[in-house]
Amino acid sequence: MLKIVFSPATLPNRGVLVLTVATGQKLGEEGLRLDRKLGGVLKKAMAASTFSGAKEQLLTIVAPAKSRLSRLILVGLGDPIKASDVVMQRIGGTAMAALQGNKDTHAILLVDEFKGSSLPEGEAVAQAAFGARLRSYRFDKYRTKLKPDQKEHLKTLTVASAHAVKARKAYLSLDCIADGVFLTRDLVSEPPNIIYPETLAQQCNTLKSLGVKVEILDEKQMKKLGMGALLGVAQGSAKPGRLVTLSWQGNASAKDKRPVAFIGKGVTFDTGGISIKPAAGMEDMKWDMGGAGAVIGAMKALAGRKAKANVVGIVGLVENMPSGTAQRPGDIVTSMSGQTVEVINTDAEGRLVLCDAIWYAQEKFNPRCLIDLATLTGAIIISLGHEYAGLFSNDDTLSSQLIAAGKKVEEELWRFPMGDAYDKDIDSPAADMRNIGSGRGAGSITAAQFIYRFVKKGTPWAHLDIAGMAWQNRDKPVVPKGATAYGVRLLDRFVSDNIEGK
Ligand code: BES
Ligand code: MN
Ligand code: ZN
Repeated sequence: MLKIVFSPATLPNRGVLVLTVATGQKLGEEGLRLDRKLGGVLKKAMAASTFSGAKEQLLTIVAPAKSRLSRLILVGLGDPIKASDVVMQRIGGTAMAALQGNKDTHAILLVDEFKGSSLPEGEAVAQAAFGARLRSYRFDKYRTKLKPDQKEHLKTLTVASAHAVKARKAYLSLDCIADGVFLTRDLVSEPPNIIYPETLAQQCNTLKSLGVKVEILDEKQMKKLGMGALLGVAQGSAKPGRLVTLSWQGNASAKDKRPVAFIGKGVTFDTGGISIKPAAGMEDMKWDMGGAGAVIGAMKALAGRKAKANVVGIVGLVENMPSGTAQRPGDIVTSMSGQTVEVINTDAEGRLVLCDAIWYAQEKFNPRCLIDLATLTGAIIISLGHEYAGLFSNDDTLSSQLIAAGKKVEEELWRFPMGDAYDKDIDSPAADMRNIGSGRGAGSITAAQFIYRFVKKGTPWAHLDIAGMAWQNRDKPVVPKGATAYGVRLLDRFVSDNIEGK
């Protein structure tokens, strides 16, 4: 794993160096010093290129022969006045991508501060380091035959700046958020023969060392509680289901002691069950635990940085398999709430897991609000692609808080309508409801209406359908392709902006 250290901006004389440059090919104080020392090579290279210093632009220069530096990489900062935290994260991530895949084991990121930046001293530097770390993530533990030039050589990144002490301090909590993001990415990337309900529950136990209380329910305990909907999904698998509660008590003196509750769909593999999915692409369904993964990572981030908030994370963990013991289309199950569900399609399993986890959360914790995250419907990908997660809620305040938090961390949400007409669509002639709508229309909304039937009156609730966001096939500045950990930074920001200290 990449090690990040902060150091005062003394000019290094070895290895590869990345330097920030503002729009108009503008060098900062450190940049100007470096350019003088290197006989004007930076200005000369910029003059000969189309590099302007625009946001995330890159220019690589081979260092002059007499210098002991190997390469110099200029990264565009854009307009320094607009250099917000996410802009700096993107610049750090872009710099990291330029550094990766080379022979250097050590690199320097020199973050020049420009006049007019709205961020406090050291903050821009810390955010760039955060972006660099987020982008550095790799999952290649099962690739045993990588050739030396395919392996990542970069081991340490020295982040140099005039405000190293302040930057190091500001970075402390960002590093904890990155730890949460990395845990989620690991859990989501692991194959389904390695991560299944019992092993995912074991992974939750690693949060104990941070002061998180971890409680794991097995099938016997869930049966006693009446969780017939969750257990109906689990019954087809040789791997028994689990329900895990993670509690973080970070604010014992809060005015409102009730916790915020995060609920995660943790289907460690979704074959569809008896309503089996087509073979093509089914391997993707290893990341059908992305909601649970995000909840676990968010809890790690919050506990790691000792957030002053009371939060519980509850994840329903099952494997959805077809077998002689699997539930059938037509089965009627009784949920913990007492409401009965006719299972028309065993592939609409996520809502069956969530409804019992949500009811349990309300009975046990009387939470001040409920936020569930789930890779729930393919339909949300048809609606929104891979740019926004779907947001469904009974509460305008909670919705705007989540949308605002999402904007700030670039994990965006788009709110969908809900209503009685959609709700009617899941009525069943045989039970209290069925688990899918009548036609193919509004599949993400009818799924949300199903969950809403398990939210007690007066509880602010939001459902995040993250099916399009948990995994991505293209690199982004701070998120390499693969498991994104979408939701971790969003939930962390939601807590810091709206719950902490309140
Ligand atoms: N896990 C899937 C949803 C999904 C699809 C996530 C593609 C990520 C990518 C979910 O359990 C599912 O199978 N949903 C069905 C619901 C349908 C049967 C009403 C779907 O979306 O097709
Ligand atoms: Mn399914
Ligand atoms: Zn699923």
